[in-house]
Amino acid sequence: MTADGPASAPAELPAHDQGLWITFEGGDGSGKTTQAALLEEWLRGQGRTVVRTREPGGTEVGVLIRDIVLHHRGDIAPRAEALLYAADRAHHVATLVQPALARGEIVIQDRYLDSSVAYQGAGRVLDADEIRDLSLWAADGALPRLTVLLDIDPAAARHRLDADDKPFDRLEAERSDFHARVRAAYLALAAAEPERFLVLDATRDVGELAAAVRDRVAAVLA
Ligand code: TYD
Repeated sequence: MTADGPASAPAELPAHDQGLWITFEGGDGSGKTTQAALLEEWLRGQGRTVVRTREPGGTEVGVLIRDIVLHHRGDIAPRAEALLYAADRAHHVATLVQPALARGEIVIQDRYLDSSVAYQGAGRVLDADEIRDLSLWAADGALPRLTVLLDIDPAAARHRLDADDKPFDRLEAERSDFHARVRAAYLALAAAEPERFLVLDATRDVGELAAAVRDRVAAVLA
């Protein structure tokens, strides 16, 4: 299921004095980081103040938590893993995201609570509603205005990761059925909140995807 927007050049952005929070989601190897960087570049070119960040690891505390959840050798109990991501999120939203939004800035973020619902909920087979509630509690209910989901077949994503030649982290190293559940969970989340989500086929050309993202962001800011 994809719902790609048109790839035409977006209109000039109007002036604004309110913050805007945009998150990027998708499986490992879906190209989120590339698209987040392209959006940042475009918004900065429009004179916007942008804060580019990520979960886990957007703060000093988050860097420590990221090291545990991604690089600890050996098992971490699924509920402990969920709490570590939620702890990172709580600190990140309180100390970095909310202050930036209050200053009227645009926050572009790699991964947020949808990652927890998909990876810990569907991937680790915890209760998706409990995982979402845990994250909402951690983040004091905060939700982004726009979430771009880069949808990709995990087998295609695996080819990209293999080509990168980087060692896999704990989550990337999971089996293909784990990643298939993650993908299905993302698509279900997007279907449940069509207002918040923009779903794009991540196998499309990088420039076309960037244009589709820009179009939606311009519409949100208009
Ligand atoms: P990411 O930073 O996208 O990885 P990389 O920069 O190495 O491409 O994400 C790190 C991993 O953490 C990714 O496999 C997804 C996982 N993750 C969760 O399982 N739950 C979460 O809540 C978040 C934010 C990430």
